[in-house]
Amino acid sequence: MIKQSKWVRAHTNIAFIKYWGKENEELILPKNNSLSLTLDAFYTDTQVSFDEDLNKDILFIDGEEQDEKALNKAQVILDLVREEADIHDFARIDSKNHVPTAAGLASSASGLAALAGAASLAAGLDLSKEELSRLARRGSGSASRSIYGGFAEWEKGTSDSNSVAIPIDKADWDIGMLFIIVDDGKKDVSSTEGMRRVVETSPYYEGWISSATEDLAAIKSAIKKQDIVEVGEIAERSALKMHALNLSANPPFNYWSPESIVAMRKVEEFRNQGYSVYLTMDAGPNVKLIGKASQMDELYQALLETFRKEQLVIAKPGPGIQILED
Ligand code: ADP
Ligand code: DP6
Repeated sequence: MIKQSKWVRAHTNIAFIKYWGKENEELILPKNNSLSLTLDAFYTDTQVSFDEDLNKDILFIDGEEQDEKALNKAQVILDLVREEADIHDFARIDSKNHVPTAAGLASSASGLAALAGAASLAAGLDLSKEELSRLARRGSGSASRSIYGGFAEWEKGTSDSNSVAIPIDKADWDIGMLFIIVDDGKKDVSSTEGMRRVVETSPYYEGWISSATEDLAAIKSAIKKQDIVEVGEIAERSALKMHALNLSANPPFNYWSPESIVAMRKVEEFRNQGYSVYLTMDAGPNVKLIGKASQMDELYQALLETFRKEQLVIAKPGPGIQILED
């Protein structure tokens, strides 16, 4: 017998206040609360089938069977679902990433959120958004936030049961992003490894924690006021502090390429021209602009002087997790 889900879609999210460090590695409990915007441009569609004829779990992304490491991440979610639903069959996961995988464009966020949705659906579990967020979190921390559209905050909590994301704001105002993809290849230092290294070795980590708490409170009030300048300034600072931690780790590492710096300088130039535009970066060399959605077309045109059009993607706030009806 096969228990097959419909296709489930989850969008990526980009953190404005970064999650960069775990308190508990196994349960994926973070050191600080984080806050993100879910985007329409990048997403994952996933279908799960529990099948009594399978003799192992298999994960296909874009038709390619994935290695042990990616499978193990997915199996954390499969095992939790199997336990809850008392299912003993192996599963086949079919997934389509409309986002480059492992390139700092948050494929793990959309990928593991879509998997949480599809696996629980295939198992016949009727989970609330909060339960889905907790389940997605066990696969990849940032996935907890991709359950919701607009702005979401992942509350770090103190245990498996209360470390969960909640919706903060629909982001139905003039805010948008523009991605400058300088490289969509796989990164050398995964997020999991990078954050582990800074927690263990950066002498600045305590400073990160205290300033993240302040940044979070400030950005929530700026979001309420729909103040793009304050939101952008705080998000840019949070990202740069995260990258400063990486430089201060032992051994030090960074995700920047020469083209990242070119893109970062562009953002500064735009600001000098009067645009309210800011940058954020994750565990990869790509630079993401935050600004007024209504100005993104103009910035896109200006960036065409420096980058190819395939490198530029405009993104608007996106929706939460959804089941695709056939
Ligand atoms: P990214 O910046 O893309 O999030 P990470 O290295 O943090 O990069 O995460 C990439 C990992 O997330 C992949 O190696 C894989 O384990 C997992 N992943 C990505 N997409 C999917 C998917 N669609 N289904 C299941 N797992 C996925
Ligand atoms: C830089 O969620 O990919 O994107 O929990 O180890 O799977 P794991 O890490 P992951 O880390 C995301 C880090 C970040 C910042 C963020 O999204 O908050």
